[in-house]
This record gives sequence, structure tokens and C-alpha cells, in this order.
Amino acid sequence: MNRQRSTAVQKSGYRGKHFTLPSFSAEGGIYFEPEPEKNIVVVPADSPVIKTLNSVFDLKNFKVPRRPVSLGILTEDEKELMAANLGAPRTLDLPVKFPGSNFRVPRELAQFVPVIKRAANFEAVVNARCYDEYYCYLTIDQGFVTPGRLQREAPCHVDGFQGARWRPKVRCNHTYTVSNVVPTAYYVQPFDFDQLDEAVHNFFWEMNYQVAQTNSRFAWQPQDYELTLMDCFCVHRGMPALKRVFRTFVRISFEVRIFDREGNAHNPLFQYDWPMVKRDIEELGLVAFHPESDPSLRVFPWQGVDGKPLKGRRRTQPKLRTHG
Ligand SMILES: [Fe+2]
Repeated sequence: MNRQRSTAVQKSGYRGKHFTLPSFSAEGGIYFEPEPEKNIVVVPADSPVIKTLNSVFDLKNFKVPRRPVSLGILTEDEKELMAANLGAPRTLDLPVKFPGSNFRVPRELAQFVPVIKRAANFEAVVNARCYDEYYCYLTIDQGFVTPGRLQREAPCHVDGFQGARWRPKVRCNHTYTVSNVVPTAYYVQPFDFDQLDEAVHNFFWEMNYQVAQTNSRFAWQPQDYELTLMDCFCVHRGMPALKRVFRTFVRISFEVRIFDREGNAHNPLFQYDWPMVKRDIEELGLVAFHPESDPSLRVFPWQGVDGKPLKGRRRTQPKLRTHG
């Protein structure tokens, strides 16, 4: 594969956060349709993730412990290609499929096409009923991770949470992910948010709290290169690297909503012009439901346990009591 990249990267940011916006070629993209006949993964019909697929977001689903569905381990060729350091730009929620469209992947991200095809083939089988309703967004994070750090610092969370901004609620997000090393940890336990108010409380801090209450006893990790399907009720968090590693993380999200947050990547293989919005959880002013809990469980990673912004690259990690 050609190491040369035409990708220009534009730096931007707001509220003290910085991100890079890749720009992709309008020529040479890879276009494809899913091929459901090529899927060899048996759909586990009794999995909670499968049972509530296409349902409308509902907090009660957090009460059912749910492990992501495994689509198996990538082939040797797929592994090598996905993890190769070819200079892929950091890409956040790039739309690669619109409702009713085929998949369109910019040529700069060609090395991830086999993984996307695997997910797409399964998706066409498991979601035959509503497939065309969904957008598909691609996130790529590739780079060296320092020992003790996470590639993507975050509290326990879910992808596709629908908070107070979303009234009425819409269909659930479901997402395929894979990483070559340091797989994400999932907390396969019931979560109870009955007493919380979505307009007042930070649900991710409460996820930290409820995981810490169980000493992370229900943590489950897939294997390296294992492609899995989670939904927006699968609570998870990245794990710190034990040694310096080159990590590749691929996320393929199926969503009915437009992802128009500033910082999301633009795909020139589609004609669309979404006004991009500055938006983050901080602006909501949410508070902890358990204000007496360990302070590391109820701050943003960029804050110290006293709530003040940390200097430089330091980050606070929640004490999930994994070492006791
Ligand atoms: Fe996530």
C-alpha cells in the first residue's frame, strides 16, 4: 500500500479541547454493498443486544446485563492490514453510509475496508428489517499509547446515550468495534438509574460509581482482533496499556441520527452539508447522583479530583477498584 498520503489535517477545538479534522480525497474511494450471503456468524437470538436491536432508547435496558456479540477473530490478512502503520488520519464519526446508500470509504482508509465489510455483511443479516434507516459512521484511532494511559481517555460510558437533549427518544445505536491490542473492558452487570434525572445527573459518573461498587467484578474483555457488536446499553471503558504499544481501534456505528458535532469528519464521497454544532457533555452542567463518592469517579478526565483543569497531558482516571 502506498505510504504517501494526500490527507491534509486541520486543527480545531472548543472549550479547551482540541481535535484534528482529516480531509479525504474525493477520488479513488471504495464503494460497496453488503453481501449478507458471505456472513458466517450465527446470530445469537437470545442475546439482549439482538433482542432490543431497532428498539427505541429506554433506560430500563441497562438493568439487563449485556455482553457484546462476538463476530469472531479477524483473519491473518485482515489483522495485518488493519494494524499496519500507514499514516491513517485520526477520524471521528465519518459517515460511510447514508440511509438507503451503499458504503463509501475514502481511499485513505482503504486498509479498514475488510473489517467494515465483515460488519456490514453481519449487519445486513441481523438488521434486514430496518437496515436502510441507518447511517453508518466510522471512527479510526491509531497511534502509540503510553504505559498506564488510555488511547481514548473516558469514564465508564456507552456510545449513543440519549440524554435530555433527545425528546422523543429514537432507535438505539449499535456499534461494531475491534482493536489489535488492549481490548476495551465491558461491564456485564445490571445498572439501575431509576432515581436519576437525565436533565440533572451525569449518567457516566454513575456508571463509574456502580462499577466501583462491584470492584469491577463483572469486567469482560474480548480478545485482540475480536470484532464485537455492542449497543448503547453496553457500559464500557478503555483499558490502560501495560507497555508502550501501537494501537489501532476501529469503530463502526449504526445510528438513525445525524452526527453533526464539530470535530466529526466529513466524507467527500457524499453530497451533504450539515451545519456542525459545538456540543459537549460539559455544557449541560450535570452533577453526580452520589456526591459523596470517590472524587475520581465524578470528574471529567481533564479535571483533577478537585475539579480544576489539569495541566498538560495529565488525566484523571476513575478508581474502579480493580486492584482490591
Ligand atoms: Fe465508547
